[in-house]
Amino acid sequence: MKTYDNDEKEVKTDKSDRKSESTITTKTGTRKTTTAKAKTTGVSKSTASTASKSRYTGDAESDFHTFFVDALKDIYWAELHLKKGLVKMCKASTTEQLSEAFSKHYDEGDQQIAELETVFSLLGEKSEAKRCEAMAGLLEEVESIISDTKRNSFVRDAGLILAAQKVEHYEIATYGTLYALAAYLPDKKVQKVLGAILAEEKKTDIALTKLAEEFINECAAVE
Ligand SMILES: [Fe+2]
Ligand SMILES: [Fe+2]
Repeated sequence: MKTYDNDEKEVKTDKSDRKSESTITTKTGTRKTTTAKAKTTGVSKSTASTASKSRYTGDAESDFHTFFVDALKDIYWAELHLKKGLVKMCKASTTEQLSEAFSKHYDEGDQQIAELETVFSLLGEKSEAKRCEAMAGLLEEVESIISDTKRNSFVRDAGLILAAQKVEHYEIATYGTLYALAAYLPDKKVQKVLGAILAEEKKTDIALTKLAEEFINECAAVE
């Protein structure tokens, strides 16, 4: 049996696993193995020995499927709740330009939610949301920034961009990973849909940077 210490990322094993203890204990959390092939490819021993023999075929009972669907439920919750956050950010914005950017992404959010529902159905699952603690925390930060900055100030807009870009980067990380994982799903449409959402999140992040660098940051610095 293995236990994980989150601070040290150290893997410990009990007696039944002791033989491999020295090979999987690491400060970085990267799992090491003893097979020459796994060392060179960076994949685990079991994966290295079985990957060439079989591929994941969409078995709904597999750990991979369960993990993937769980991650989808998490980002589905995040998207649903982000909509409320975007409404608040839109209303709290000082400038028309930032307000419009949030409003545009609100509309894109509707489309992304529909696309996630398509992914659920392509996987033979019903759309279900599971609380995403990361997004819940990021949305709390939005509230703090609104209450800690003055209405109609450029500092308010600079703060909203900061909060929104944290959200976008979280989404980019999530969709980026799901996109990479989806390469191993039998239905290639899943990866295509996730790739389109990922591209949209990146575009939003770039648009926010542009607004900040064009005038909002400078105005905030001198007001
Ligand atoms: Fe999104
Ligand atoms: Fe987004």
